[in-house]
Amino acid sequence: MSHTQVREAGAGMTAAKVTARTLLEKKRRQEPVTALTAYDYPTARIVDEAGIDLILVGDSLAMTVLGHENTLSLTVEEMLHHVRAVRRGVQRAFVVADMPYGSYHVNTEDTLRNALCFIKHGGAEAVKIEGGQRRAPLVEELTAAEIPVVGHIGLTPQSVLQMGGYRVQGRSIPEMEELLADAAALEGAGAVALVLEGIPRELAEEITAAVKIPTIGIGAGPGCDGQILVFHDAFELAFSPAAKFVRSFGDAGALLREGIEQFRDAVATRTFPSDAESYHLPRELASRMKVPAAPVSLAS
Ligand code: KIV
Repeated sequence: MSHTQVREAGAGMTAAKVTARTLLEKKRRQEPVTALTAYDYPTARIVDEAGIDLILVGDSLAMTVLGHENTLSLTVEEMLHHVRAVRRGVQRAFVVADMPYGSYHVNTEDTLRNALCFIKHGGAEAVKIEGGQRRAPLVEELTAAEIPVVGHIGLTPQSVLQMGGYRVQGRSIPEMEELLADAAALEGAGAVALVLEGIPRELAEEITAAVKIPTIGIGAGPGCDGQILVFHDAFELAFSPAAKFVRSFGDAGALLREGIEQFRDAVATRTFPSDAESYHLPRELASRMKVPAAPVSLAS
C-alpha cells in the first residue's frame, strides 16, 4: 500500500483523514473505533497503513521506549520529539498527544502553552489529559482555544503515587457515581472522546451509553465504543508481565531476537555480507588491486 495514497484495505478507495468528527460518526453508526499507541516514525507508518483510526503518542513511552519505572518523569520536550516523529509517519489516523505529568498541573496559561506546542510544533490533532471533574475547566479552556481534548478517566497512571499503585477503579457505588459524573463533566466541557482505563466492564458500558462522545477502552471490557492497547504490550515488546486485559497480537520481540541472532551468526561466520551484497570496482581497476578479492561466498 502506498503511503501517499492511503487506501482502505481491499476497498481500492482513498481513505479520508480521520478527525474528531469521524470518531463521533463512528459512535453514531456503532462502528468500533480502533486505536493503538505509537512513539516513532516506522511504527506510526505501519499502524497508519494498517488502517487504525487513532494513534496515541502515549506518555507510556516513558516506560515502553525510555525505560522509566512510571510515566511521571516524561517532559514536554521528550513528548514533542516523539509526537513529531509519529506525525511524519501518519496520513490517515487521528493523532493524539498525551500531555505529560506536570504539563497541565500548574496553571491554565502553562497548560495552553504546552498543548498548543503539541498542536503547532508537533502536528498533533488533539491532546489527552488524565482526570475527571477537576479537569473540566481546563478542558473548556483548551476547547475554547480550538484544541480538541481526549479525556482519560478510571485508572489514570499519572496518579500512581496518589493511588498507591495501578488498581482497577470504580468498584464501589461512590466510585461508580464519581466516574459517571467525571464522564458527564468532561463531555459537557467539550472533550471529543474519553479513554476509559481499568474499570469494570459493566460500568464502562453504562458510561458509554450515557455519553454521546466515543469511549475508548483499555482494560474496560468490550462495551466501549473503541479499544486501545499500548503497542509494546500488544506485540510483546514490553519487558514486564502483561496485565489481564492485554492480548498478544504478535510476538515482535521473538521475531527481532531471532533475526538479531541470525545477523550475529552471519557476521561471526563471515557469511554476511556476500559478494552480491558488495559494491565492486570496474574490472580494469579491480585487476590492479594488490589484495585479490576474497572468493565469492556461497551463502548468498
Ligand atoms: O499513555 C498511554 O499509552 C495511555 C493509554 C494507556 C491509553 O494513556
